[in-house]
Amino acid sequence: MEKKNIDWSNLGFGYIKTDKRYVSYYKDGAWDEGALIDDPMITMSECAGVLQYAQTCFEGLKAYTTADGHIVVFRPDLNAERLENSAKRLEMPVFPKDRFIDAVVKTVKANDAYVPPYGTGATLYLRPYMFGKNEVIGVKPADEYEFRLFTTPVGPYFKGGAKPLTIKISDFDRAAPHGTGNVKAGLNYAMSLHAIVTAHNEGYDENMYLDPASRTKVEETGGANFLFITKDNKVVTPKSDSILPSITRRSLMYVAKEYLGLETEEREVYLSELDDFAECGLCGTAAVISPVGKIVDHGREICLPSGMNEMGPVTKKLYDTLTGIQMGKVEAPEGWIKVIE
Ligand code: PLP
Ligand code: COI
Repeated sequence: MEKKNIDWSNLGFGYIKTDKRYVSYYKDGAWDEGALIDDPMITMSECAGVLQYAQTCFEGLKAYTTADGHIVVFRPDLNAERLENSAKRLEMPVFPKDRFIDAVVKTVKANDAYVPPYGTGATLYLRPYMFGKNEVIGVKPADEYEFRLFTTPVGPYFKGGAKPLTIKISDFDRAAPHGTGNVKAGLNYAMSLHAIVTAHNEGYDENMYLDPASRTKVEETGGANFLFITKDNKVVTPKSDSILPSITRRSLMYVAKEYLGLETEEREVYLSELDDFAECGLCGTAAVISPVGKIVDHGREICLPSGMNEMGPVTKKLYDTLTGIQMGKVEAPEGWIKVIE
């Protein structure tokens, strides 16, 4: 396969149409066999469930070119499981795990010319999603659904790549107690749009959301979980029922403990502790680990000792080990890497 003529090293995090996308339709209680198609456009009723009541959920994962030239995806089984949880929470039918993984493999293979070459810093982002498609006017779940998966080559999520970010503590919440914060529902992201536009207008890169019940504890950002490093090199991540269980964060906690021999803690993290940490990072598929240099709490600046010029040393080790596993330079734990034959 000949690679597309794309300036891989200068890609941002945007949408570039690729050749094929996967689609499967759910009707009369069953998914059809699914197919790869060419048409990126979707036509639906003005009264479709997704348009009226936001019945939609999605996933995000990446395909990588390894140092020895294979194309691989990272832990797609966990994305399948999380999509299952999201679907159940939104009263949508489950798209089976084996079908999900098959769709990932087929769509990546069909778009292999768009998988960025090794060493460019870019990856192929995969966006699986589901939505209610038939007409719904009373508030209830749809009867017909579409599962889709498209791909787009991407570079770093934050402009400036690994440059430390400045974030603000938001006065808005992205999730409610006992709401949908722990699943990947489109509505959570709609909730966050005003907050992120406000933060950007004020010159911040991202928001830190607090726990919606007491607003005393750290939750996550609009698209990534937090990792903190204590001054004695412990890796700490917030525990909460209203944050998304990030696959990157779970993988990094394992890497910290099993590869780097660091102590790890998943626990409630209070706002009042922020002054004590040595490093802070945002972790997610899109964000990988993006270092945070400064957190602003209503004008009060909390400057992380790792500074505004580069990643802190522990964050860097975590970053190098995780991306090393994803790019085939560091041996992966059993089952983490799916090679696309
Ligand atoms: N938190 C939110 C709100 C997200 O949207 C994402 C992205 O998927 C994450 C965390 C990171 O999750 P993952 O590492 O599975 O991509
Ligand atoms: C991802 O990391 O896959 C996400 O869905 C986050 C989003 C902000 C792009």
